Amino acid sequence: MMIPIFLFFLLSSIFTVEAQQGQSIVKPGSILTPTTNSSWLSPSGLYAFGFYKQGNGYAVGVFLAGIPQKTVVWTANRDNPPVSAQVTLNFTSDGRLVLQSAQGTETSLANFDPASSASMLDTGNFVVYNSDNQPIWESFQNPTDTLLPTQRLLPNDSVVLKSSVSESNQSTGRFRAIMQQDGYVALYPVGTNLTIDYGYWSTNSGIPHGNLNLDDHGFLYVTNSSFNFTLSPSRNSAKGTVLYRLRMEDDGFLRLYSYNLQEQNGSWSIIWSPLNETGVNRCFPRGVCGVNAYCDPGGNDINCTCLPGFVFIDESKRTLGCQRNSTTENCNEKGMMEEVPNIIWENVTYSQSLLPTKQDCDDACLQDCSCEAALFNDRVCRKQKLPLRFVNIKLPIDSDATLAFIKVRTPTPSEPTPSSEGTVTKKKGLDTLFLCYFLFSYALPLL
Ligand SMILES: *[C@@H]1O[C@H](CO)[C@@H](O)[C@H](O)[C@H]1NC(C)=O
Ligand SMILES: *[C@@H]1O[C@H](CO)[C@@H](O)[C@H](O)[C@H]1NC(C)=O
Ligand SMILES: *[C@@H]1O[C@H](CO)[C@@H](O)[C@H](O)[C@H]1NC(C)=O
Ligand SMILES: *[C@@H]1O[C@H](CO)[C@@H](O)[C@H](O)[C@H]1NC(C)=O
Ligand SMILES: *[C@@H]1O[C@H](CO)[C@@H](O)[C@H](O)[C@H]1NC(C)=O
Ligand SMILES: *[C@@H]1O[C@H](CO)[C@@H](O)[C@H](O)[C@H]1NC(C)=O
Ligand SMILES: *[C@@H]1O[C@H](CO)[C@@H](O)[C@H](O)[C@H]1NC(C)=O
Ligand SMILES: *[C@@H]1O[C@H](CO)[C@@H](O)[C@H](O)[C@H]1NC(C)=O
Ligand SMILES: *[C@@H]1O[C@H](CO)[C@@H](O)[C@H](O)[C@H]1NC(C)=O
Ligand SMILES: *[C@@H]1O[C@H](CO)[C@@H](O)[C@H](O)[C@H]1NC(C)=O
Ligand SMILES: *[C@@H]1O[C@H](CO)[C@@H](O)[C@H](O)[C@H]1NC(C)=O
Ligand SMILES: *[C@@H]1O[C@H](CO)[C@@H](O)[C@H](O)[C@H]1NC(C)=O
Repeated sequence: MMIPIFLFFLLSSIFTVEAQQGQSIVKPGSILTPTTNSSWLSPSGLYAFGFYKQGNGYAVGVFLAGIPQKTVVWTANRDNPPVSAQVTLNFTSDGRLVLQSAQGTETSLANFDPASSASMLDTGNFVVYNSDNQPIWESFQNPTDTLLPTQRLLPNDSVVLKSSVSESNQSTGRFRAIMQQDGYVALYPVGTNLTIDYGYWSTNSGIPHGNLNLDDHGFLYVTNSSFNFTLSPSRNSAKGTVLYRLRMEDDGFLRLYSYNLQEQNGSWSIIWSPLNETGVNRCFPRGVCGVNAYCDPGGNDINCTCLPGFVFIDESKRTLGCQRNSTTENCNEKGMMEEVPNIIWENVTYSQSLLPTKQDCDDACLQDCSCEAALFNDRVCRKQKLPLRFVNIKLPIDSDATLAFIKVRTPTPSEPTPSSEGTVTKKKGLDTLFLCYFLFSYALPLL
Protein backbone atom coordinates (compact mmCIF):
# COMPACT_ATOMS: atom_id res chain seq x y z
CA MET A 1 0.00 0.00 0.00
CA MET A 2 2.92 2.35 0.64
CA ILE A 3 4.21 2.26 -2.85
CA PRO A 4 1.15 3.66 -4.65
CA ILE A 5 0.93 6.51 -2.13
CA PHE A 6 4.58 7.33 -2.63
CA LEU A 7 4.03 7.29 -6.38
CA PHE A 8 0.99 9.47 -6.00
CA PHE A 9 3.02 12.12 -4.17
CA LEU A 10 5.84 11.85 -6.67
CA LEU A 11 3.49 12.26 -9.59
CA SER A 12 1.57 15.09 -8.00
CA SER A 13 4.77 16.98 -7.22
CA ILE A 14 5.91 16.60 -10.84
CA PHE A 15 2.49 17.74 -11.93
CA THR A 16 2.70 20.84 -9.70
CA VAL A 17 6.06 21.79 -11.15
CA GLU A 18 4.65 21.47 -14.63
CA ALA A 19 1.62 23.50 -13.72
CA GLN A 20 3.81 26.26 -12.29
CA GLN A 21 5.94 26.28 -15.39
CA GLY A 22 2.77 26.25 -17.42
CA GLN A 23 2.36 29.94 -16.73
CA SER A 24 5.31 30.73 -18.93
CA ILE A 25 4.78 28.08 -21.62
CA VAL A 26 4.08 29.70 -24.96
CA LYS A 27 2.25 27.74 -27.63
CA PRO A 28 2.12 28.12 -31.42
CA GLY A 29 -0.49 30.67 -32.38
CA SER A 30 0.79 33.18 -29.80
CA ILE A 31 1.73 36.60 -31.04
CA LEU A 32 3.50 39.68 -29.69
CA THR A 33 3.47 43.22 -30.97
CA PRO A 34 5.80 46.08 -29.98
CA THR A 35 3.11 48.17 -28.31
CA THR A 36 0.61 45.76 -26.72
CA ASN A 37 1.43 42.32 -25.30
CA SER A 38 5.03 43.06 -26.17
CA SER A 39 6.74 40.24 -24.24
CA TRP A 40 6.46 36.83 -22.59
CA LEU A 41 7.56 36.94 -18.95
CA SER A 42 9.43 34.29 -16.98
CA PRO A 43 7.38 32.84 -14.07
CA SER A 44 8.75 35.32 -11.51
CA GLY A 45 8.57 38.23 -13.95
CA LEU A 46 12.32 38.79 -13.72
CA TYR A 47 13.12 38.11 -17.38
CA ALA A 48 11.12 38.79 -20.52
CA PHE A 49 11.38 37.70 -24.13
CA GLY A 50 9.96 40.15 -26.62
CA PHE A 51 10.17 43.62 -28.01
CA TYR A 52 12.28 46.37 -26.51
CA LYS A 53 13.00 49.90 -27.78
CA GLN A 54 16.01 50.22 -30.07
CA GLY A 55 16.86 53.40 -31.95
CA ASN A 56 13.77 54.65 -33.74
CA GLY A 57 12.07 51.28 -33.53
CA TYR A 58 12.22 47.95 -31.75
CA ALA A 59 14.41 44.90 -31.40
CA VAL A 60 13.50 41.43 -30.13
CA GLY A 61 15.46 39.88 -27.31
CA VAL A 62 15.68 38.84 -23.68
CA PHE A 63 15.86 41.54 -21.05
CA LEU A 64 15.50 42.01 -17.30
CA ALA A 65 11.93 43.18 -16.81
CA GLY A 66 11.93 42.83 -13.03
CA ILE A 67 14.30 45.70 -12.24
CA PRO A 68 14.05 49.40 -13.10
CA GLN A 69 17.21 49.31 -15.24
CA LYS A 70 15.78 47.35 -18.15
CA THR A 71 18.94 45.41 -19.03
CA VAL A 72 19.21 43.62 -22.37
CA VAL A 73 20.99 40.26 -22.12
CA TRP A 74 20.31 38.75 -25.55
CA THR A 75 19.18 40.07 -28.94
CA ALA A 76 17.75 38.19 -31.92
CA ASN A 77 19.27 39.07 -35.31
CA ARG A 78 21.35 41.70 -33.58
CA ASP A 79 22.76 43.08 -36.81
CA ASN A 80 19.40 43.68 -38.47
CA PRO A 81 18.00 47.22 -38.37
CA PRO A 82 15.32 48.02 -35.78
CA VAL A 83 11.76 47.09 -36.78
CA SER A 84 8.74 49.37 -36.82
CA ALA A 85 5.81 49.37 -34.39
CA GLN A 86 3.68 47.67 -37.08
CA VAL A 87 5.45 44.29 -37.03
CA THR A 88 4.09 41.14 -35.39
CA LEU A 89 6.13 38.44 -33.68
CA ASN A 90 4.34 35.27 -34.65
CA PHE A 91 4.89 31.83 -33.10
CA THR A 92 3.39 30.23 -36.17
CA SER A 93 1.12 27.19 -36.15
CA ASP A 94 3.86 25.22 -37.92
CA GLY A 95 6.28 25.95 -35.09
CA ARG A 96 8.48 28.80 -36.28
CA LEU A 97 9.31 32.10 -34.60
CA VAL A 98 9.05 34.86 -37.18
CA LEU A 99 8.67 38.58 -37.44
CA GLN A 100 5.97 39.62 -39.89
CA SER A 101 5.97 43.08 -41.36
CA ALA A 102 2.74 44.91 -42.21
CA GLN A 103 3.47 43.99 -45.84
CA GLY A 104 3.65 40.31 -44.89
CA THR A 105 7.38 39.70 -45.29
CA GLU A 106 8.75 37.23 -42.75
CA THR A 107 12.07 37.22 -40.93
CA SER A 108 13.07 34.19 -38.91
CA LEU A 109 14.16 34.95 -35.34
CA ALA A 110 16.06 31.69 -34.85
CA ASN A 111 16.52 28.50 -36.84
CA PHE A 112 15.22 25.23 -35.41
CA ASP A 113 13.03 22.27 -36.37
CA PRO A 114 9.27 22.76 -35.94
CA ALA A 115 8.62 23.67 -32.30
CA SER A 116 5.72 22.74 -30.04
CA SER A 117 6.30 25.22 -27.26
CA ALA A 118 8.67 27.84 -25.93
CA SER A 119 9.43 29.18 -22.49
CA MET A 120 11.08 32.18 -20.92
CA LEU A 121 12.86 30.71 -17.88
CA ASP A 122 13.72 32.54 -14.67
CA THR A 123 17.42 31.98 -15.41
CA GLY A 124 17.14 34.30 -18.41
CA ASN A 125 17.28 31.41 -20.88
CA PHE A 126 14.65 31.44 -23.63
CA VAL A 127 14.10 27.81 -24.65
CA VAL A 128 12.22 26.27 -27.58
CA TYR A 129 10.95 22.68 -27.28
CA ASN A 130 9.89 19.99 -29.76
CA SER A 131 6.82 17.78 -29.37
CA ASP A 132 8.80 15.45 -27.04
CA ASN A 133 9.41 18.44 -24.76
CA GLN A 134 13.11 18.32 -25.59
CA PRO A 135 14.92 21.66 -25.93
CA ILE A 136 15.79 22.27 -29.58
CA TRP A 137 17.02 25.84 -29.30
CA GLU A 138 18.22 28.00 -26.38
CA SER A 139 19.27 31.62 -26.20
CA PHE A 140 21.95 30.42 -23.71
CA GLN A 141 23.63 28.47 -26.51
CA ASN A 142 23.64 31.45 -28.85
CA PRO A 143 25.05 34.23 -26.70
CA THR A 144 25.47 37.83 -27.80
CA ASP A 145 27.50 39.95 -25.35
CA THR A 146 26.31 38.53 -22.00
CA LEU A 147 26.84 35.37 -19.95
CA LEU A 148 24.28 34.75 -17.16
CA PRO A 149 24.49 32.43 -14.14
CA THR A 150 24.09 28.75 -15.20
CA GLN A 151 24.95 29.65 -18.80
CA ARG A 152 28.23 28.25 -20.07
CA LEU A 153 30.64 29.25 -22.77
CA LEU A 154 31.81 26.11 -24.57
CA PRO A 155 35.32 25.74 -26.01
CA ASN A 156 34.13 26.60 -29.49
CA ASP A 157 35.58 29.49 -31.49
CA SER A 158 32.19 30.24 -32.99
CA VAL A 159 30.30 30.43 -29.67
CA VAL A 160 31.78 33.56 -28.13
CA LEU A 161 30.72 36.74 -26.38
CA LYS A 162 30.83 39.65 -28.81
CA SER A 163 30.48 43.18 -27.55
CA SER A 164 27.65 45.45 -28.67
CA VAL A 165 28.17 48.69 -30.58
CA SER A 166 27.11 50.70 -27.53
CA GLU A 167 24.90 50.63 -24.46
CA SER A 168 21.89 51.53 -26.60
CA ASN A 169 22.75 49.56 -29.75
CA GLN A 170 23.13 45.78 -29.50
CA SER A 171 24.52 45.28 -33.01
CA THR A 172 27.86 43.44 -33.10
CA GLY A 173 30.64 45.64 -31.81
CA ARG A 174 34.39 45.29 -31.92
CA PHE A 175 35.53 42.87 -29.19
CA ARG A 176 35.07 39.23 -28.28
CA ALA A 177 35.75 36.89 -25.38
CA ILE A 178 36.59 33.28 -26.19
CA MET A 179 36.86 30.06 -24.23
CA GLN A 180 39.62 28.47 -26.28
CA GLN A 181 40.02 24.73 -26.70
CA ASP A 182 43.56 25.00 -25.34
CA GLY A 183 42.10 26.16 -22.00
CA TYR A 184 42.89 29.84 -22.36
CA VAL A 185 40.20 32.43 -21.76
CA ALA A 186 41.14 35.24 -24.14
CA LEU A 187 40.02 38.60 -25.48
CA TYR A 188 40.43 39.56 -29.14
CA PRO A 189 39.13 42.23 -31.49
CA VAL A 190 36.38 41.01 -33.83
CA GLY A 191 37.51 40.13 -37.36
CA THR A 192 41.02 38.84 -36.73
CA ASN A 193 42.71 35.47 -36.68
CA LEU A 194 42.91 33.95 -33.20
CA THR A 195 46.65 34.36 -32.85
CA ILE A 196 48.94 35.94 -30.30
CA ASP A 197 49.41 38.93 -32.65
CA TYR A 198 45.81 40.00 -32.04
CA GLY A 199 44.85 38.86 -28.55
CA TYR A 200 45.09 41.59 -25.91
CA TRP A 201 44.43 39.59 -22.77
CA SER A 202 44.39 35.93 -21.83
CA THR A 203 44.69 33.61 -18.89
CA ASN A 204 45.56 29.92 -18.91
CA SER A 205 43.11 27.80 -16.94
CA GLY A 206 45.23 24.71 -17.48
CA ILE A 207 42.03 22.89 -18.45
CA PRO A 208 41.99 22.10 -22.18
CA HIS A 209 38.44 21.67 -23.54
CA GLY A 210 36.98 23.20 -20.37
CA ASN A 211 33.81 25.33 -20.21
CA LEU A 212 33.56 28.83 -18.85
CA ASN A 213 30.85 28.86 -16.15
CA LEU A 214 29.15 31.48 -14.05
CA ASP A 215 27.12 30.30 -11.06
CA ASP A 216 24.33 31.86 -8.98
CA HIS A 217 26.86 33.33 -6.54
CA GLY A 218 28.94 35.17 -9.09
CA PHE A 219 31.59 32.43 -9.16
CA LEU A 220 33.23 32.53 -12.60
CA TYR A 221 35.37 29.52 -13.38
CA VAL A 222 36.65 27.18 -16.05
CA THR A 223 35.79 23.53 -15.46
CA ASN A 224 35.96 20.09 -17.01
CA SER A 225 33.97 18.57 -14.12
CA SER A 226 37.05 17.14 -12.41
CA PHE A 227 38.97 20.40 -12.10
CA ASN A 228 37.96 24.02 -11.49
CA PHE A 229 40.02 27.10 -12.32
CA THR A 230 38.77 30.23 -10.55
CA LEU A 231 38.53 33.53 -12.41
CA SER A 232 36.40 35.42 -9.92
CA PRO A 233 35.66 34.09 -6.43
CA SER A 234 32.20 33.21 -5.18
CA ARG A 235 30.20 35.84 -3.24
CA ASN A 236 28.23 35.32 -0.03
CA SER A 237 24.87 35.98 -1.61
CA ALA A 238 21.76 34.00 -0.78
CA LYS A 239 20.36 32.41 -3.93
CA GLY A 240 18.01 34.73 -5.75
CA THR A 241 18.91 37.92 -3.87
CA VAL A 242 21.72 39.11 -6.13
CA LEU A 243 21.80 39.08 -9.91
CA TYR A 244 25.05 38.57 -11.80
CA ARG A 245 26.02 39.02 -15.41
CA LEU A 246 29.30 38.85 -17.29
CA ARG A 247 29.50 41.10 -20.29
CA MET A 248 31.96 41.72 -23.12
CA GLU A 249 31.71 45.50 -23.27
CA ASP A 250 31.88 48.01 -26.09
CA ASP A 251 35.17 49.45 -24.78
CA GLY A 252 36.91 46.05 -24.98
CA PHE A 253 36.80 45.21 -21.27
CA LEU A 254 35.17 42.08 -19.89
CA ARG A 255 33.24 42.89 -16.71
CA LEU A 256 31.30 40.93 -14.11
CA TYR A 257 28.43 42.87 -12.55
CA SER A 258 26.19 42.31 -9.55
CA TYR A 259 22.80 43.79 -8.72
CA ASN A 260 21.30 43.50 -5.23
CA LEU A 261 17.58 42.85 -5.59
CA GLN A 262 17.00 43.77 -1.94
CA GLU A 263 18.10 47.34 -2.39
CA GLN A 264 15.22 49.49 -3.40
CA ASN A 265 16.94 51.55 -6.04
CA GLY A 266 19.68 49.11 -6.85
CA SER A 267 22.16 49.51 -9.64
CA TRP A 268 24.71 47.31 -11.36
CA SER A 269 28.17 47.42 -9.84
CA ILE A 270 31.37 45.98 -11.26
CA ILE A 271 32.70 43.21 -9.06
CA TRP A 272 35.43 41.77 -11.28
CA SER A 273 37.27 42.59 -14.48
CA PRO A 274 40.33 40.78 -15.77
CA LEU A 275 41.81 44.00 -17.15
CA ASN A 276 42.15 45.71 -13.81
CA GLU A 277 45.88 45.33 -13.42
CA THR A 278 48.33 48.14 -12.76
CA GLY A 279 49.32 49.92 -15.92
CA VAL A 280 46.22 48.99 -17.88
CA ASN A 281 44.45 52.03 -19.26
CA ARG A 282 41.42 52.56 -21.47
CA CYS A 283 43.66 52.22 -24.57
CA PHE A 284 44.57 48.64 -23.79
CA PRO A 285 41.96 46.80 -25.92
CA ARG A 286 43.25 46.54 -29.49
CA GLY A 287 41.56 48.86 -31.96
CA VAL A 288 39.53 50.80 -29.41
CA CYS A 289 39.87 53.96 -31.55
CA GLY A 290 38.78 52.31 -34.77
CA VAL A 291 40.71 52.42 -38.02
CA ASN A 292 43.37 54.97 -39.02
CA ALA A 293 43.47 56.31 -35.47
CA TYR A 294 45.32 55.74 -32.22
CA CYS A 295 44.47 56.10 -28.56
CA ASP A 296 46.15 58.53 -26.17
CA PRO A 297 46.62 56.76 -22.83
CA GLY A 298 46.54 59.94 -20.72
CA GLY A 299 43.31 60.80 -18.94
CA ASN A 300 40.42 58.63 -17.82
CA ASP A 301 38.42 58.66 -21.03
CA ILE A 302 39.21 57.08 -24.36
CA ASN A 303 40.98 59.82 -26.31
CA CYS A 304 41.35 59.07 -30.01
CA THR A 305 43.57 60.90 -32.50
CA CYS A 306 43.55 60.54 -36.28
CA LEU A 307 46.70 59.81 -38.27
CA PRO A 308 48.06 62.82 -40.22
CA GLY A 309 45.78 63.70 -43.16
CA PHE A 310 42.80 61.91 -41.62
CA VAL A 311 39.66 63.23 -39.95
CA PHE A 312 37.07 61.54 -37.72
CA ILE A 313 34.39 59.61 -39.61
CA ASP A 314 31.93 61.00 -37.08
CA GLU A 315 33.18 63.84 -34.89
CA SER A 316 30.56 62.96 -32.27
CA LYS A 317 31.62 59.29 -32.12
CA ARG A 318 35.38 59.46 -32.21
CA THR A 319 35.96 55.78 -31.48
CA LEU A 320 34.46 54.95 -34.89
CA GLY A 321 37.82 55.78 -36.47
CA CYS A 322 39.11 58.12 -39.15
CA GLN A 323 39.11 58.54 -42.91
CA ARG A 324 41.04 60.58 -45.47
CA ASN A 325 40.21 64.26 -45.16
CA SER A 326 39.25 64.56 -48.81
CA THR A 327 37.07 62.39 -50.93
CA THR A 328 38.23 64.07 -54.15
CA GLU A 329 41.72 62.65 -53.83
CA ASN A 330 42.91 60.77 -56.84
CA CYS A 331 46.07 59.10 -57.88
CA ASN A 332 47.28 61.95 -60.07
CA GLU A 333 47.49 64.34 -57.16
CA LYS A 334 50.91 65.10 -55.86
CA GLY A 335 51.69 63.33 -52.65
CA MET A 336 54.48 62.90 -50.19
CA MET A 337 55.32 60.27 -47.61
CA GLU A 338 55.22 61.42 -44.02
CA GLU A 339 56.90 59.41 -41.30
CA VAL A 340 54.70 58.87 -38.23
CA PRO A 341 57.15 58.41 -35.36
CA ASN A 342 56.55 55.95 -32.53
CA ILE A 343 53.50 54.51 -34.24
CA ILE A 344 52.88 50.98 -35.45
CA TRP A 345 49.85 49.29 -36.98
CA GLU A 346 48.75 45.87 -38.10
CA ASN A 347 51.55 44.13 -39.95
CA VAL A 348 49.79 43.26 -43.19
CA THR A 349 50.74 44.05 -46.75
CA TYR A 350 49.55 43.57 -50.28
CA SER A 351 53.05 43.83 -51.67
CA GLN A 352 56.40 43.30 -50.03
CA SER A 353 59.85 43.93 -51.48
CA LEU A 354 63.49 44.16 -50.49
CA LEU A 355 64.73 47.74 -50.85
CA PRO A 356 68.00 49.24 -49.61
CA THR A 357 66.76 52.42 -47.91
CA LYS A 358 63.60 53.91 -46.45
CA GLN A 359 63.73 56.54 -49.23
CA ASP A 360 63.37 53.73 -51.78
CA CYS A 361 60.39 52.44 -49.81
CA ASP A 362 58.85 55.95 -49.82
CA ASP A 363 59.32 56.21 -53.58
CA ALA A 364 57.87 52.76 -54.18
CA CYS A 365 54.71 53.73 -52.31
CA LEU A 366 54.45 57.19 -53.91
CA GLN A 367 54.61 55.69 -57.38
CA ASP A 368 51.96 53.09 -56.63
CA CYS A 369 48.38 54.32 -56.83
CA SER A 370 47.17 51.55 -54.52
CA CYS A 371 49.70 52.35 -51.83
CA GLU A 372 48.41 54.48 -48.95
CA ALA A 373 51.08 53.79 -46.36
CA ALA A 374 54.23 51.76 -45.86
CA LEU A 375 56.11 49.90 -43.18
CA PHE A 376 59.89 49.63 -43.47
CA ASN A 377 62.11 47.41 -41.38
CA ASP A 378 65.46 45.79 -42.09
CA ARG A 379 65.28 46.54 -45.83
CA VAL A 380 61.80 45.04 -46.12
CA CYS A 381 59.29 47.51 -47.54
CA ARG A 382 55.65 46.53 -46.97
CA LYS A 383 53.07 48.55 -48.87
CA GLN A 384 49.71 49.06 -47.17
CA LYS A 385 46.16 49.79 -48.18
CA LEU A 386 43.54 51.45 -46.03
CA PRO A 387 42.12 50.98 -43.52
CA LEU A 388 45.06 50.75 -41.14
CA ARG A 389 43.90 48.63 -38.23
CA PHE A 390 45.19 48.53 -34.65
CA VAL A 391 47.23 51.70 -34.92
CA ASN A 392 49.12 52.04 -31.67
CA ILE A 393 51.76 54.06 -29.95
CA LYS A 394 54.85 51.88 -29.65
CA LEU A 395 55.66 50.64 -26.21
CA PRO A 396 59.05 51.70 -24.84
CA ILE A 397 59.97 48.06 -24.37
CA ASP A 398 58.94 47.32 -27.95
CA SER A 399 61.95 46.04 -29.84
CA ASP A 400 60.14 46.56 -33.14
CA ALA A 401 62.24 48.96 -35.20
CA THR A 402 59.62 49.24 -37.95
CA LEU A 403 59.16 52.72 -39.43
CA ALA A 404 55.67 53.80 -40.43
CA PHE A 405 54.90 56.12 -43.35
CA ILE A 406 51.64 57.64 -44.52
CA LYS A 407 51.00 59.03 -47.99
CA VAL A 408 49.83 62.61 -47.56
CA ARG A 409 48.39 64.23 -50.65
CA THR A 410 48.81 67.93 -51.15
CA PRO A 411 45.57 69.75 -51.99
CA THR A 412 44.97 70.62 -55.65
CA PRO A 413 46.12 74.18 -56.56
CA SER A 414 42.54 75.32 -57.23
CA GLU A 415 41.71 74.84 -53.55
CA PRO A 416 44.47 76.51 -51.57
CA THR A 417 44.52 75.30 -47.98
CA PRO A 418 46.80 76.10 -45.06
CA SER A 419 50.34 74.75 -45.44
CA SER A 420 51.74 71.69 -43.75
CA GLU A 421 52.93 73.57 -40.67
CA GLY A 422 50.71 71.33 -38.59
CA THR A 423 52.90 68.34 -39.35
CA VAL A 424 55.77 69.54 -37.19
CA THR A 425 53.53 70.06 -34.19
CA LYS A 426 51.93 66.68 -34.69
CA LYS A 427 55.31 64.98 -34.53
CA LYS A 428 56.12 66.86 -31.36
CA GLY A 429 52.78 65.79 -29.95
CA LEU A 430 53.59 62.18 -30.61
CA ASP A 431 56.90 62.38 -28.74
CA THR A 432 55.06 63.73 -25.71
CA LEU A 433 52.57 60.89 -26.05
CA PHE A 434 55.40 58.41 -26.12
CA LEU A 435 56.50 59.69 -22.73
CA CYS A 436 52.95 59.52 -21.41
CA TYR A 437 52.72 55.94 -22.51
CA PHE A 438 55.99 55.16 -20.81
CA LEU A 439 54.61 56.53 -17.57
CA PHE A 440 51.18 54.97 -17.78
CA SER A 441 51.63 51.52 -19.16
CA TYR A 442 53.63 48.46 -19.68
CA ALA A 443 52.94 45.31 -21.57
CA LEU A 444 51.03 42.39 -20.08
CA PRO A 445 52.05 38.85 -20.87
CA LEU A 446 49.90 37.33 -23.57
CA LEU A 447 49.12 33.77 -24.58
C1 LIG B 1 -2.82 40.04 -24.77
O1 LIG B 1 -2.90 38.64 -24.99
C2 LIG B 1 -3.89 38.00 -24.21
C3 LIG B 1 -3.82 36.53 -24.40
O2 LIG B 1 -3.01 36.17 -25.47
C4 LIG B 1 -5.27 38.54 -24.61
O3 LIG B 1 -6.27 37.96 -23.82
C5 LIG B 1 -5.28 40.05 -24.43
O4 LIG B 1 -6.48 40.57 -24.89
C6 LIG B 1 -4.13 40.70 -25.16
N1 LIG B 1 -4.10 42.11 -24.83
C7 LIG B 1 -4.04 43.04 -25.75
C8 LIG B 1 -4.03 44.45 -25.26
O5 LIG B 1 -4.00 42.78 -26.94
C1 LIG C 1 23.73 50.25 -34.52
O1 LIG C 1 25.06 50.20 -34.99
C2 LIG C 1 25.17 49.71 -36.31
C3 LIG C 1 26.63 49.53 -36.62
O2 LIG C 1 27.36 50.66 -36.31
C4 LIG C 1 24.48 50.68 -37.25
O3 LIG C 1 24.57 50.21 -38.57
C5 LIG C 1 23.03 50.79 -36.83
O4 LIG C 1 22.37 51.76 -37.61
C6 LIG C 1 22.90 51.18 -35.37
N1 LIG C 1 21.50 51.06 -34.97
C7 LIG C 1 20.87 52.02 -34.32
C8 LIG C 1 19.48 51.74 -33.93
O5 LIG C 1 21.41 53.08 -34.06
C1 LIG D 1 0.89 33.93 -37.97
O1 LIG D 1 1.37 33.06 -38.98
C2 LIG D 1 0.37 32.19 -39.50
C3 LIG D 1 1.03 31.29 -40.49
O2 LIG D 1 1.77 30.33 -39.82
C4 LIG D 1 -0.73 33.01 -40.14
O3 LIG D 1 -1.76 32.14 -40.57
C5 LIG D 1 -1.30 33.99 -39.13
O4 LIG D 1 -2.24 34.83 -39.75
C6 LIG D 1 -0.18 34.83 -38.53
N1 LIG D 1 -0.73 35.67 -37.50
C7 LIG D 1 -0.61 36.97 -37.50
C8 LIG D 1 -1.25 37.70 -36.37
O5 LIG D 1 0.00 37.55 -38.36
C1 LIG E 1 30.67 25.07 -32.59
O1 LIG E 1 29.50 25.84 -32.71
C2 LIG E 1 28.95 25.83 -34.01
C3 LIG E 1 27.82 26.83 -34.06
O2 LIG E 1 27.00 26.71 -32.95
C4 LIG E 1 28.50 24.41 -34.33
O3 LIG E 1 27.97 24.38 -35.63
C5 LIG E 1 29.69 23.48 -34.23
O4 LIG E 1 29.27 22.15 -34.41
C6 LIG E 1 30.37 23.61 -32.88
N1 LIG E 1 31.60 22.84 -32.87
C7 LIG E 1 31.87 21.96 -31.92
C8 LIG E 1 33.19 21.28 -32.04
O5 LIG E 1 31.11 21.76 -31.01
C1 LIG F 1 44.56 34.54 -41.09
O1 LIG F 1 44.72 33.16 -41.30
C2 LIG F 1 44.59 32.77 -42.65
C3 LIG F 1 44.65 31.26 -42.71
O2 LIG F 1 45.55 30.76 -41.79
C4 LIG F 1 45.70 33.41 -43.46
O3 LIG F 1 45.55 33.08 -44.81
C5 LIG F 1 45.59 34.92 -43.32
O4 LIG F 1 46.67 35.54 -43.98
C6 LIG F 1 45.63 35.32 -41.87
N1 LIG F 1 45.35 36.74 -41.78
C7 LIG F 1 46.08 37.55 -41.04
C8 LIG F 1 45.68 38.98 -41.06
O5 LIG F 1 47.03 37.17 -40.38
C1 LIG G 1 40.44 18.01 -16.46
O1 LIG G 1 41.59 18.81 -16.64
C2 LIG G 1 42.70 18.37 -15.89
C3 LIG G 1 43.80 19.39 -16.07
O2 LIG G 1 44.15 19.51 -17.41
C4 LIG G 1 43.10 16.97 -16.34
O3 LIG G 1 44.21 16.51 -15.57
C5 LIG G 1 41.92 16.04 -16.18
O4 LIG G 1 42.24 14.77 -16.70
C6 LIG G 1 40.69 16.58 -16.89
N1 LIG G 1 39.56 15.77 -16.57
C7 LIG G 1 38.68 15.38 -17.49
C8 LIG G 1 37.54 14.58 -17.01
O5 LIG G 1 38.85 15.63 -18.68
C1 LIG H 1 33.59 23.47 -9.26
O1 LIG H 1 32.76 24.54 -8.82
C2 LIG H 1 31.38 24.23 -8.84
C3 LIG H 1 30.61 25.46 -8.51
O2 LIG H 1 30.96 25.96 -7.25
C4 LIG H 1 31.13 23.09 -7.86
O3 LIG H 1 29.77 22.74 -7.90
C5 LIG H 1 31.98 21.89 -8.23
O4 LIG H 1 31.84 20.89 -7.27
C6 LIG H 1 33.43 22.29 -8.35
N1 LIG H 1 34.17 21.16 -8.87
C7 LIG H 1 35.36 20.83 -8.41
C8 LIG H 1 36.01 19.69 -9.07
O5 LIG H 1 35.91 21.43 -7.50
C1 LIG I 1 14.13 55.43 -5.49
O1 LIG I 1 14.05 56.25 -6.65
C2 LIG I 1 12.85 56.99 -6.73
C3 LIG I 1 12.80 57.71 -8.07
O2 LIG I 1 14.08 58.12 -8.45
C4 LIG I 1 12.78 57.95 -5.54
O3 LIG I 1 11.58 58.68 -5.60
C5 LIG I 1 12.86 57.15 -4.25
O4 LIG I 1 12.91 58.05 -3.16
C6 LIG I 1 14.09 56.27 -4.21
N1 LIG I 1 14.05 55.41 -3.04
C7 LIG I 1 15.12 55.15 -2.30
C8 LIG I 1 14.93 54.24 -1.14
O5 LIG I 1 16.23 55.61 -2.54
C1 LIG J 1 40.23 47.65 -9.82
O1 LIG J 1 41.37 48.01 -9.07
C2 LIG J 1 41.17 49.10 -8.18
C3 LIG J 1 42.46 49.43 -7.49
O2 LIG J 1 43.50 48.69 -7.98
C4 LIG J 1 40.09 48.74 -7.16
O3 LIG J 1 39.84 49.85 -6.33
C5 LIG J 1 38.82 48.38 -7.92
O4 LIG J 1 37.84 47.95 -7.01
C6 LIG J 1 39.09 47.25 -8.89
N1 LIG J 1 37.91 47.00 -9.67
C7 LIG J 1 37.49 45.79 -9.94
C8 LIG J 1 36.28 45.69 -10.74
O5 LIG J 1 38.07 44.80 -9.54
C1 LIG K 1 43.91 63.77 -26.29
O1 LIG K 1 45.12 63.43 -26.94
C2 LIG K 1 45.75 64.53 -27.56
C3 LIG K 1 47.02 64.06 -28.24
O2 LIG K 1 46.88 62.85 -28.81
C4 LIG K 1 46.07 65.61 -26.54
O3 LIG K 1 46.61 66.74 -27.21
C5 LIG K 1 44.80 66.01 -25.81
O4 LIG K 1 45.11 66.90 -24.76
C6 LIG K 1 44.13 64.78 -25.21
N1 LIG K 1 42.86 65.18 -24.62
C7 LIG K 1 42.48 64.80 -23.41
C8 LIG K 1 41.15 65.27 -22.96
O5 LIG K 1 43.17 64.10 -22.70
C1 LIG L 1 40.80 68.94 -43.91
O1 LIG L 1 40.64 69.71 -45.06
C2 LIG L 1 40.16 71.01 -44.84
C3 LIG L 1 39.99 71.70 -46.16
O2 LIG L 1 40.03 70.83 -47.21
C4 LIG L 1 41.14 71.78 -43.96
O3 LIG L 1 40.62 73.06 -43.68
C5 LIG L 1 41.36 71.03 -42.67
O4 LIG L 1 42.36 71.66 -41.89
C6 LIG L 1 41.78 69.60 -42.95
N1 LIG L 1 41.85 68.88 -41.68
C7 LIG L 1 42.87 68.10 -41.35
C8 LIG L 1 42.79 67.42 -40.03
O5 LIG L 1 43.82 67.89 -42.08
C1 LIG M 1 55.42 41.30 -40.59
O1 LIG M 1 54.94 40.34 -41.50
C2 LIG M 1 55.94 39.79 -42.31
C3 LIG M 1 55.31 38.90 -43.37
O2 LIG M 1 54.02 38.53 -43.03
C4 LIG M 1 56.93 39.03 -41.45
O3 LIG M 1 57.96 38.49 -42.27
C5 LIG M 1 57.54 39.99 -40.44
O4 LIG M 1 58.38 39.29 -39.56
C6 LIG M 1 56.46 40.67 -39.65
N1 LIG M 1 57.07 41.70 -38.83
C7 LIG M 1 56.79 41.85 -37.54
C8 LIG M 1 57.51 42.93 -36.83
O5 LIG M 1 55.98 41.14 -36.97
